[in-house]
Order: sequence, then structure tokens, then C-alpha cells
Amino acid sequence: MASNVLGQEQAAFLVRQRIARLATADAAGKPHAVPVCFALARTSIYIALDEKPKNVPVTDLKRVRNIIENPEVALISDRYAEDWDLLAFVMVRGRAELLEPGAEEHAAAIRLLRGKYHQYEAMAIEDNPVIAIRPEKAVSWGDLDRRERFDPPVLDTIHGRRSVRRYLPKEVPDEVVEQVLEAARWAPSPHGRQPWRFAVLTKTQTRERLAGAMGEEWRANLEMDGQGAEVVERRLEGSRRRLLDAPVLVLLCLYLEDLDEYPDAGRQRGETTMAVQSLGAAAQNALLVAYDLGLDAGWMCAPLFCPERVVEALGLDQKLVPHALLTLGYAEGDPPKRRGRLALDELVVYRE
Ligand SMILES: Cc1cc2nc3c(=O)[nH]c(=O)nc-3n(C[C@H](O)[C@H](O)[C@H](O)COP(=O)(O)O)c2cc1C
Repeated sequence: MASNVLGQEQAAFLVRQRIARLATADAAGKPHAVPVCFALARTSIYIALDEKPKNVPVTDLKRVRNIIENPEVALISDRYAEDWDLLAFVMVRGRAELLEPGAEEHAAAIRLLRGKYHQYEAMAIEDNPVIAIRPEKAVSWGDLDRRERFDPPVLDTIHGRRSVRRYLPKEVPDEVVEQVLEAARWAPSPHGRQPWRFAVLTKTQTRERLAGAMGEEWRANLEMDGQGAEVVERRLEGSRRRLLDAPVLVLLCLYLEDLDEYPDAGRQRGETTMAVQSLGAAAQNALLVAYDLGLDAGWMCAPLFCPERVVEALGLDQKLVPHALLTLGYAEGDPPKRRGRLALDELVVYRE
């Protein structure tokens, strides 16, 4: 939070906003306003200069010229909704300066901006100055906290998602699969190392090979458990059908190579557990975005019990450890039963 000047609610509101408007004025007081992406730090607000067309030096930008002539600026970010009880804004007035490349604060600002907007990773914003606003006064209007008291849209997605085990023979567009993978890519992971890799299986031939390999192992396990021949056949057929009927399968594999190494087994186990937790987060991201995009999905744990077979059947790198299969497609109908959930009272065992 830009210390002292911004109140906690104002800072919490601003830090969640993706866009603001920056107002500057020239020496004669002629106003100018532009939409900007920004990042909030403890004592400053930072704005990158990434303006196109590329042949115009950023120092020719009106906002930059204005700041050089007159450092007094205002930045406003607002929330609009048709329900006017939700309207709110925060406006910060302050003095702006230009941080030049090479300065420590410039590098820190670039890191902050890239952390907030992944699009900046592919842009050479570090070659340009960064605008730093030093806030002097903040004013706000509306109930800044209000949205948090409403059902967030993502909760609708969380409540609506369900495991689907039967699909229509309807093709899933590649772009949709790409978005599902994109969601998985952005999952939290230990040290940000992303200890997972994905295999996308669409060809019937490939899925048959996989179903065959996993089926052999499962048959051996079921027979070892003493299951009758009829039960074994029925279960194997059910699993095979699921693998072949879903239009797309996404295999989630653990990839431990980039994780930290420890001399003791305890901490190493911790690293691996974190990687598995993170694979679960990637899976959930994928399931939620799939549901949001109108797809349905299911989770199959089978690869976890025969990882080597899966690696061999698909010719994958031996360093990958298959953990889960996500089936993706359009549900044939609403799933017959949806498991309920324990009440929060039972799940939250400590509050103080
Ligand atoms: C780690 C994990 C493994 C799972 N494995 C399977 C599986 O092999 N087969 C299956 O039908 N469902 C599997 N599921 C799905 C659960 O059965 C399902 O999430 C649960 O019954 C709750 O239902 P819902 O997803 O519809 O809310 C798995 C879920 C998780 C998290």
C-alpha cells in the first residue's frame, strides 16, 4: 500500500483493479487523460510505457511531456455495475516522476508490473522509463468492500462443476482445450517451478493403446484382489469406454526435475508432496475453466496406479510420472448423482 496516504480499504480496492485512468496536465493546465495498467507498491504507483507505434519515442507521449512540464497528476480507478449500490472509485493525487532504466527502483517496478500483467513478459518495457506516482492524497467514494459480500462469479462455477463420466460424441474445439490448458498453466506451484506436464490425447488409436496398457495392469490387480471374472470384465469395459468415449483426454504428469534437492528424506518428501498438491491445483483450474467454457470434465486416477505402463504406451519421457487423466467433452446428460459436501462446521475444526 502506498503508505499512510491510502487507507487500507482504498489500497485493497486499488490492488485488485486491472485498469485506471491517469490524468496529467501541461504547464498551462490543459488536461489529458489515458487508460493505464498500473501496479501498486508501498509508497508508489507504477505505470509502464509501452506505447505504439514503436517509432514514436515514449518521451514524445503527451502524458510524459506533461509530467516533465508539470508533475501534478491524478489516477482514478472505478467499479461500474448496473446495480448502482456497487459503484465505487478511488482517486489518488500525487506527483509523478520518470524512473530511468538502470535504476534499482525501475527494475523493481518492472518486476511488479510483470507480476501483475503477464502480457508484459513478452514486451521490452524495461527499455523505457517507468512513471512513478508518489501519492499525496487519496479520495474515494462508494462501498469499496462491497463486492466481497456478494457471491463471486467464480463460486457459481465452483458450485456448478461436476464430475461427468459419459459424453456426447461431439468434438471439442482446439481453442477450448487450449484455454483449459492455459488455466492449468497458471496454477500455483512450489517455488513457481510448475512441476507438471500435460499430454493431450485425442486420436482414437492413441487412446486405445493407453486403455489397453492400463487395462492389463488393472486386470492383474483386480484378479489379485480375488474379484470374479464377470466383475473384472465389467469394470474393465466401463473404464475402457470412458477413455474412448470422451473426445479429449488430458494426462497430468508430475515432473520433479526442477524442484529443490535436499540431503534429508523428510524435506525431499515435502517437495514431492508440494508438487502433488500443485498438480491438484492445476487439475482444478482446468476443471473450472472447462466448466466455465461450457464443457464437462471428469477425473480418472487410473494412471497413478500404473505410471510406467502409461509412459511406455505413450512413449513419454521417463522423467514424467503420470498422475491423473482428465476427460473433457460435452455431458450426455446430467450425471445421475452428485455427492454432497460436509457442512463448513464439520470442516473448519479451529477458529480463534
Ligand atoms: C484425486 C482424485 C481422483 C479421482 N479419481 C476418480 C476416478 O478414478 N474415477 C472417477 O469416476 N472419479 C474420480 N474422481 C472424481 C470424484 O469421484 C468426484 O470428484 C467426487 O465424487 C465428487 O463429485 P463431483 O466432482 O461431481 O463434485 C477423482 C477425484 C479426485 C480429486
